[in-house]
Amino acid sequence: MVTLELTMNIYKPTPTNIKRAAEYIRQGKLVAFPTETVYGLGADALNKSAVARIFEAKMRPFFDPIIVHVHNLEQANLLARDIDETARKLIDRFWPGPLTLVLEKSDTVPDIVTAGLPTVGVRMPDHPVALALIRETGRPVAAPSANRFGSLSPTRPAHVLEQLGPACSMVLDGGACTVGVESTIVRTGRKKIELLRPGGITVEELTGVVGEITITTEHAIVEAPGQMEWHYAPSKPVLLTDTITVKDMDKSDTGYLFYSEPGFSYHEDRSEILSSRGDLREAAANLFSCLHRLDDMGIRQILAESVPERGLGLAIMNRLRKASKKRNHPEGIHRD
Ligand code: TXA
Ligand code: MG
Repeated sequence: MVTLELTMNIYKPTPTNIKRAAEYIRQGKLVAFPTETVYGLGADALNKSAVARIFEAKMRPFFDPIIVHVHNLEQANLLARDIDETARKLIDRFWPGPLTLVLEKSDTVPDIVTAGLPTVGVRMPDHPVALALIRETGRPVAAPSANRFGSLSPTRPAHVLEQLGPACSMVLDGGACTVGVESTIVRTGRKKIELLRPGGITVEELTGVVGEITITTEHAIVEAPGQMEWHYAPSKPVLLTDTITVKDMDKSDTGYLFYSEPGFSYHEDRSEILSSRGDLREAAANLFSCLHRLDDMGIRQILAESVPERGLGLAIMNRLRKASKKRNHPEGIHRD
């Protein structure tokens, strides 16, 4: 009765269940919870051994730092040595929301959280369940995406169970995530404002508030170790193409990820469409669910169509490129 077992630790986010989840976190256990971007695997950020459990459960290398989630500014002030003026502006405009700020860390933050870096990634999620859980816990909550390292991010509770079920004392059910791609990561505090990972807040939105920003994502390997060459990958190889054409329909072992409704007849049984009307916001929200479904189909590879690289399209293309790089790293970092 595997199914029964698998659904057992998904809980509706009632006040009682949120209290229980908070109690688990205070005891050093792991709880998966919804955010507006993807599900997080949460632990008490101030408890070293609890954070170590996250690394163990995800099989995440210790050099990849974890984002800390807060429910108010007081908690952010506890984590960061200083919140500079640019960071303040961004906080005013985008928190709660899908923006992580990389700030100089205070001594309160254990080194394991930041992988020894002098900075800490902080974010206030825009999700009532996440905020209630952090408030109820009374501590900042360290949480990476609730998937095995390098694998597809979870945007529904079932995705969490598939990859990390036994590691979680509880999975709080918030349904499907509305944004669907991870937070944008920005580093301030130096001369330039740097984009370390494109995500739910677009570059256009950022520049509207702070002017010019430097895009560091493609070469951030040393300072943002999570920006590995491949990541966010299904178990099947992903081939990225500009557009999927009718000529591509002759492949028998291939699943298709379309950006929008194709103008020709296609294999509906092994295709997913990110947004039939070609809307980038909808496409982002559907991205990981579509990839999870394709990964579960009886196909050998996934042919993915590019999306326009503006707005949320930048984050979508970043994820698809990284997923497609895995092909070249067969013996790369191991997934189950
Ligand atoms: O939307 C999100 O950000 C989700 C939800 C759960 O909040 N979290 C998430 O965490 O995507 P994760 O661990 O999957 O990705 C966090 C990324 C990693 O690539 C890591 O390297 C980077 O954030 N990061 C964390 N702290 C950092 C720091 N101090 N400096 C540079 N990069 C950092
Ligand atoms: Mg992740």
